[in-house]
Amino acid sequence: MKINGIHYRSVWLADDGYTVEIFDQTKLPFELKVIQLNTFQDAAIAIKDMWVRGAPLIGAVAAYGMALAMRQNSSNENLQIAYDFLVKTRPTAINLKWALDRTYQALKSTSSTHRVETAYRIAKEIADEDVELCHKIGEHGLKIIQEIAAKKSAGEVVNILTHCNAGWLATVDWGTALSPIYMAHDAGIKIHVWVDETRPRNQGGLTAFELGSHGVPHTLIADNAGGHLMQHGEVDMCIVGTDRTTARGDVCNKIGTYLKALAAKANQVPFYVALPSPTLDFTVWDGVKEIPIEQRSGDEQSHVYGITAEGKHHWVNTVPQGTVCGNYAFDVTPAELVTGLITERGICDASAEGLRMLFPDLYPQNL
Ligand code: MRU
Repeated sequence: MKINGIHYRSVWLADDGYTVEIFDQTKLPFELKVIQLNTFQDAAIAIKDMWVRGAPLIGAVAAYGMALAMRQNSSNENLQIAYDFLVKTRPTAINLKWALDRTYQALKSTSSTHRVETAYRIAKEIADEDVELCHKIGEHGLKIIQEIAAKKSAGEVVNILTHCNAGWLATVDWGTALSPIYMAHDAGIKIHVWVDETRPRNQGGLTAFELGSHGVPHTLIADNAGGHLMQHGEVDMCIVGTDRTTARGDVCNKIGTYLKALAAKANQVPFYVALPSPTLDFTVWDGVKEIPIEQRSGDEQSHVYGITAEGKHHWVNTVPQGTVCGNYAFDVTPAELVTGLITERGICDASAEGLRMLFPDLYPQNL
């Protein structure tokens, strides 16, 4: 994706060929700050403290973290230490474990003298594949937007609501939920995006930054506005991303997604979820009962981050001193509230049957 006409990915290698570079997403949309990761501990901090976030990007950075670990020390012992350290950074998005497992397995069967090059090759493969998967998601999702646009009178806008940031900042490029939106915009379809603010971490600001950079018309709304807009016919469809999708099609995504899905169902608004296959977790059936939901510091709930008129970055407290704050980072939307899953292989029902048909090679035989 482009910022001020320059193409970026959300993770890349520095000119030296081994230092990993990312944007500090905690500084966006106010400042485009590049951070260098030199060790696997740096990569772990970047994931845990959300300098990088979004399920696919977390996976890609974790894979690069393993490569950094092998540069530090390519022994069996360090391989295990790095894996154990990185896998604990965030609990909900399954892409993290998926990428680490893939890297770990390959490195385990590689002699320690070849582990550095192998780890970098796999991390690059994961990043490149993610770009390809997200591009395909865009092509499939575009068809849905085209169908909605075709039912409208000439010049009428297609209104799409999204929650959190599932754009290129959450992946390596393109995004999941935003990929079809970019393609629809590029195809000349008149679209407008309702961007949920997504408290407490305000990922809506990242989405607004991305959409603005790409020239897509959008409006940032308070998290509670979606139901009202749907009641008044102002939303044609919702598209969100997911951090983990279960074997029966439940989707876990940023806190508040479930409420949007309930409102969409009540107002007959189609609710789509876009995901690349590394986000599937077929070891889980019932998402509500089985997916670990990350709980982050209450400080993220009690404080708001922003920039002053003088350009100073500030955290501001918004609650009485000593207030106990709960900060549940994700929730699960049951499959029956989801109109369809947009994947790199096409669109399917959010159900065991739908997923089995699209992913027969990955779906367990015994389910
Ligand atoms: O806590 P975050 O910002 O990592 O949460 C991100 C989301 O919930 C995204 O919607 C999800 O990862 C899908 S991104 C393609």
